[in-house]
Amino acid sequence: MKVQVLAAAVALSLAALLPAAAAPMVIKYSHVVADQTPKGQAALKFKELAEKALPGKVEVQVFPNSQLFGDGKEMEALLLGDVQIIAPSLAKFAKYTKKLQIFDLPFLFDDIAAVDRFQDSAKGQELLDSMTGKGIKGLGYLHNGMKQLSANKPLKTPADAKGLKFRIQSSDVLEAQFKAVGGNPQKLAFAEVYQALQTGVVDGTENPWSNIYTKKFHEVQKVIMDSNHGVLDYMVITNAGWWKSLPDDVRTALNKAMVESIKYGNKVAFDEAENYRQKVIADKKADVMPMSKAELGQWREAMKPVWTKFEGDIGKDLIDAALAANK
Ligand code: LMR
Repeated sequence: MKVQVLAAAVALSLAALLPAAAAPMVIKYSHVVADQTPKGQAALKFKELAEKALPGKVEVQVFPNSQLFGDGKEMEALLLGDVQIIAPSLAKFAKYTKKLQIFDLPFLFDDIAAVDRFQDSAKGQELLDSMTGKGIKGLGYLHNGMKQLSANKPLKTPADAKGLKFRIQSSDVLEAQFKAVGGNPQKLAFAEVYQALQTGVVDGTENPWSNIYTKKFHEVQKVIMDSNHGVLDYMVITNAGWWKSLPDDVRTALNKAMVESIKYGNKVAFDEAENYRQKVIADKKADVMPMSKAELGQWREAMKPVWTKFEGDIGKDLIDAALAANK
């Protein structure tokens, strides 16, 4: 017994003499959607790759579903250093730059491949640095997909939207888009959408298939139109000061993990959009309705004045570059 006590005491004093292993740097990555979505998958891939590249040096903590911060708070939290990486929708940056409003213009991009080409172009890449003066560094674009209109009745023509309340992201462009068809847009945080639809606070909304399915919006909407009228993509961002303060080797390794994780998330976005659409159809909770070319033409016509309204803020050169990406 005595020997055991002595051995334990010796072990304790030896441990005290050894230098304590440095605790890994904690990197918090917060977002508002489900783990299964393109953004959720990209965040988890970043954790895997960053921790593999920097073993024992970094610990990435991923917080999905607005668990840590929701819309409205996450940007402030990033600037305060309470979270290190977030990936807000491109619709949520107007407070920091008006240029990114381009992504909200209705019917600007033909499809997600065109969005991809524009983001990859010189003009698209420049936008990643459009907020560095505000302390925000863009690490890359991440896809979700094209948005679909939904409501409790078919929205075949713009006249069908008249008088309906639509939940929108916090974007003045999207506000103008729904006003252009006689709707009443209401800015609401993503975490509040399901309840707002369920209780009738709003009648309809717009979102890509992965968000519709994983947040069960199709269970509280009667109809989802195959409208593909706009895009919902993200910019993965970090605090510019924090990023700059990192040791070079750590920054390089994190950047590499980020690039790879975005590639992975984009693949999920490309591969899974149709699968999520099929899952919504298979659930038989809402009708998924095709739209004819003529019907979509009417929506495009009604919403087109929004481009002119925001052209001054965004810049005609940027709009032209986006249109050129349609091929
Ligand atoms: C929304 O608010 O509808 C989206 O921006 C949520 C998201 O991050 O996909």
